[in-house]
Amino acid sequence: MTRIILYGCNGRMGRMITDILKDDREAGIVAGIDKFGEPSGNFPVFQSLAECDVPADVLIDFSSPAALSDILENAKERKLALVLCSTGYSDEETQRINKATEEFAVLRSANMSLGVNLLLKLVNEAAKVLLTQGYDPEIVELHHNKKLDAPSGTALAFADAINDAVDYQYANRYERHSAKEKRPVPEIGISSVRGGTIPGEHEILFCGPDEVIEFRHVAYSRALFGKGAVTAAKFLAGKEPGMYSMADVI
Ligand SMILES: NC(=O)c1ccc[n+]([C@@H]2O[C@H](COP(=O)([O-])OP(=O)(O)OC[C@H]3O[C@@H](n4cnc5c(N)ncnc54)[C@H](O)[C@@H]3O)[C@@H](O)[C@H]2O)c1
Repeated sequence: MTRIILYGCNGRMGRMITDILKDDREAGIVAGIDKFGEPSGNFPVFQSLAECDVPADVLIDFSSPAALSDILENAKERKLALVLCSTGYSDEETQRINKATEEFAVLRSANMSLGVNLLLKLVNEAAKVLLTQGYDPEIVELHHNKKLDAPSGTALAFADAINDAVDYQYANRYERHSAKEKRPVPEIGISSVRGGTIPGEHEILFCGPDEVIEFRHVAYSRALFGKGAVTAAKFLAGKEPGMYSMADVI
């Protein structure tokens, strides 16, 4: 039985994972961490990992980058594996996560769905062919009106998959309002739409002369991400320190 500490247990994703794990025989939540909201599960909830003394194998985080210090400073002595699903980390926080892989097994993914992780590979392959032919890459992402960060972590992961194909010679472009100019070639346009309850949608366009090639992923429910995170937690428990990805889980 994989023992899980759920960081952000009272939030939308935290509640989703609590529900998913209710009838799971291989894994269960032994403690939750949250500063706000109402608990929904049958486990103790603490304000921080520093205050939580419940033994566990793995921590799933669906909270915010603000929790990173508490996680990294308090997970080590418990030998916790970390499934980090929060998005919006700064470059400095990303570096701290990368450094932490020397001590922890860390799986970080801006999107826990199987489909998105497959699509990242396909988009990378397409970019190798199409960017050398001068096609313009554009990403459009749509999310619900409660989302705090923009663009989405998944949109940035798609931009990375595109840029990887051209040795990172392209720059991300987040808005076109401030400059009156033709579209510079070596850039990846990223646009964000916010509204309603959209769980998450990503469109990746390669716009060439006389044709547009379009990849699209639509999440119909957050359960998709929750199930991916639970599968990742079962996979990561007991693993050696290092950086793992959803590609390893798949
Ligand atoms: N990787 C993925 O597939 C994926 C999917 C969905 C959401 N997310 C990300 O997961 C995060 C949570 O999403 P959500 O929709 O559940 O948000 P939410 O706001 O509904 O829930 C976040 C919860 O974390 C708690 N929290 C935040 N910071 C905290 C801190 N420092 N200490 C203690 N508790 C803290 C909040 O009180 C809240 O209950 C976001 O960053 C979101 O972008 C990732």
